[in-house]
Amino acid sequence: MELKIELNSNKKQKPQPGQKLGFGKIFTDHMFIMDWDKGLGWHDTKIVPYGPIEMYPTATCLHYGQEVFEGLKAYRTPNGEVTLFRPEENFKRMNASCDRLCIPNFDEEFLLEALKELVKLEADWIPNDEGASLYIRPFIFGVEEALGVHPSSKYKFVIILSPSGAYYDSGLDPVKIYVETKYVRAVQGGTGAAKTGGNYASSLKAQDEAEKEGYSQVLWLDGVHRKYIEEVGAMNVFFVLGDEIVTPKLQGSILPGITRKSAVEMLKSWGMNVSERLLSVDELVDAYKNGNLKEAFGTGTAAVISPIGELKYDGLVMNINNGEIGPISQKLYDNLTGIQFGKLEDPFGWTVVVK
Ligand code: PLP
Ligand code: COI
Repeated sequence: MELKIELNSNKKQKPQPGQKLGFGKIFTDHMFIMDWDKGLGWHDTKIVPYGPIEMYPTATCLHYGQEVFEGLKAYRTPNGEVTLFRPEENFKRMNASCDRLCIPNFDEEFLLEALKELVKLEADWIPNDEGASLYIRPFIFGVEEALGVHPSSKYKFVIILSPSGAYYDSGLDPVKIYVETKYVRAVQGGTGAAKTGGNYASSLKAQDEAEKEGYSQVLWLDGVHRKYIEEVGAMNVFFVLGDEIVTPKLQGSILPGITRKSAVEMLKSWGMNVSERLLSVDELVDAYKNGNLKEAFGTGTAAVISPIGELKYDGLVMNINNGEIGPISQKLYDNLTGIQFGKLEDPFGWTVVVK
């Protein structure tokens, strides 16, 4: 497929070094876009100036939420290289999300090449500040003009870029998480394992109520028994219980996180006892009461490794590791970001060089 490039003649001012970027608030000068039409497949692939996308009020995504997205990052290394972290995993997961949402698959290799072109073009937007990077948001949505409920016959695939800092305002300071008991997010057979906007829309109410109580995000329990730990709003979770590091196993209702997978691989490479298994909230509470809940942390592209300093469940406030980052969370953070930012060797082969 050919990739046309239309340059933006009206470039924006880039953030100044040291400027607080926040997460996903600033967008670069260009975006990638391609279309899918029944009978034509994916076509018209181009990089164009960042700007509004025209569609009709009848576009199916606006009514029935047929949409998938991804999140990954581009980093600048100390020797000036620009790299991506496991991007092929994101495109693989995106195609899996497409399958679940009845969206046509795309050529992962072509998309990786197109993404590299876009990142190369926007390389000057990659922040140099400590811990900051260029967040990449690919997304696909149905745009057929129709109100019947059926898979769209037209789609747009867009990639936008955003120089970003830490996801949480608190940075690496431990976050407070609320264990959700009233609302549920996903069940096996639903869309929890897909990265689709509807999952996030249905989580907003719980998130809003938790925020009012001073918590950053909610920790979801399984939707059937309301018992087993699943994941946090925008990250997977790990708990250090004695000498075992536990993360909920993938059963179709949580996102198969790429940071989660990387953390498991890294912990195993250090010979640590890491299990992907069912973990009930009662087991967690018992471990807390017995002094066995040593650390808790979330993993995610935006959240990186995010220590959890407090969990609230059913009126019980669990203070974890005195609200401080624990040694395993710190070691994972240092090694993961060390590889991502090119400050440490990458023995796993996760880094993809763009230029
Ligand atoms: N779980 C949810 C619901 C998320 O939104 C994310 C973020 O992408 C994650 C987990 C972590 O996934 P990843 O590590 O691939 O970014
Ligand atoms: C990511 O970590 O890339 C995400 O997509 C989380 C997000 C919902 C902000």
